Amino acid sequence: MAAKPRPSREELRALHRRYKETTDPAERDRIRAQLVDAYRDFVYFLARKFQNRGEPLDDIVQVGYLGLIKAIERFDPDLGYEFTTFATLTVAGEIKRHFRDKGTAIRFPRRLQELHTSVVRVNEQMKNELGREPTVAELAERLGVTPDDVTEAIEMGPAYVPLSLDQPIGSSDGQDARSIADQIGTADPELDRVEMRDVLNRAMEHLTPRERAIMAMRFYEQLSQSEIARRLGISQMHVSRLQRAALERRWFREAQRKGSPQPDALALATADARGSPSARMVLFKGIEKEGFLFYSNYESRKGHDLAANNRAALVFYWPATGHQVRVSGRVSRLPRAASTTYFHSRPRGAQLSALASRQSRVVTSRAVLEKAVAELDRLYPKTVPLPSDWGGYALRPDWIEFWEHRADRLHDRLRYARKRGRGWRLERLAP
Ligand SMILES: Cc1cc2nc3c(=O)[nH]c(=O)nc-3n(C[C@H](O)[C@H](O)[C@H](O)COP(=O)(O)O)c2cc1C
Repeated sequence: MAAKPRPSREELRALHRRYKETTDPAERDRIRAQLVDAYRDFVYFLARKFQNRGEPLDDIVQVGYLGLIKAIERFDPDLGYEFTTFATLTVAGEIKRHFRDKGTAIRFPRRLQELHTSVVRVNEQMKNELGREPTVAELAERLGVTPDDVTEAIEMGPAYVPLSLDQPIGSSDGQDARSIADQIGTADPELDRVEMRDVLNRAMEHLTPRERAIMAMRFYEQLSQSEIARRLGISQMHVSRLQRAALERRWFREAQRKGSPQPDALALATADARGSPSARMVLFKGIEKEGFLFYSNYESRKGHDLAANNRAALVFYWPATGHQVRVSGRVSRLPRAASTTYFHSRPRGAQLSALASRQSRVVTSRAVLEKAVAELDRLYPKTVPLPSDWGGYALRPDWIEFWEHRADRLHDRLRYARKRGRGWRLERLAP
């Protein structure tokens, strides 16, 4: 018998919609059977990723079908994301739960474990040689394997190899005894986040696989940096650096590539003690553990606002990419040593201006300012001292919102809100 042609995307979408609408049990059975048939290859594809772990493939596939049927039941085609994006988690979750119930820690094949070790080693070597992270293609060529092998080793090997599914991911004091298996085994709370994953996956397109793996662990699984470091077999500092690089790369590389002018400019909103707001542009100088960094004058209007009320908000907007990022939180001053280092990295002219300018005060003329700069230039022929009223600030976010323009005007808004204790709650906001 000739194989039936696979239904098109539109046909599948119509089937999902009809399945959601109809209450006729016979019709539901028929549509479910059609959908299961249509996603046969998809289930096999996922099941094969769990092969060689001591279970016959056919058994894994059967478990995968259970996950598929759950996904078909729960899928809402009107929410606009792809069924396979949605179903990947349920199907893989069902398979992982199956392994967990059988008491088997998920282990990736030895080949992948070895390749992962080699990738980490060669990645370090090449980074030193090239002065940047090597690409997957470069790693593959050096290791004599395919780029797909490298990606798999990076993304799956480190994420699971040294790890038992029963390893706790909660707090170390045992207050929160959840295990990784609990996280991936209970589908419901995870499923709520599937559509966000879809958006985030798109957002992460510009990252290297390694960065993507880190971001996924950090934001999807809400692991701490030290847990990720343990998984990847690298230092926590390295994770922190990669995570920061990933965030910045994602924001700026894309904005710059598409020609957003001054992608590091952000609007900073503060309010004084009486709640009177004011906003201005400042330059974003990176993310450190203290938060989002910027530099200014401590005696300026914003300086006085922040001294009286440390709550502030900032906004980036990149017209070329249609992305907006909003951040809100509390601001603190950076240690003086950090400000000194940054101050002396600036051009001499900028240093002299900062020293001459009592920012936000009324001045009688431009000439007064120019005269002050000229005098300071003579006074400090070598090193310009850090002004006592100038330095860095860090905004530690309580929440960060990623806003993405969508052509149908149903824009995406994803907000990470800091949870009490640790981790972030991820939620979607109506546009
Ligand atoms: C693109 C751009 C970047 C700026 N960057 C900074 C900055 O990093 N730090 C700063 O103090 N002012 C910066 N300014 C000037 C501020 O917008 C503002 O005029 C100044 O900080 C005084 O604000 P205030 O009176 O509210 O304190 C920038 C202005 C623009 C347009």
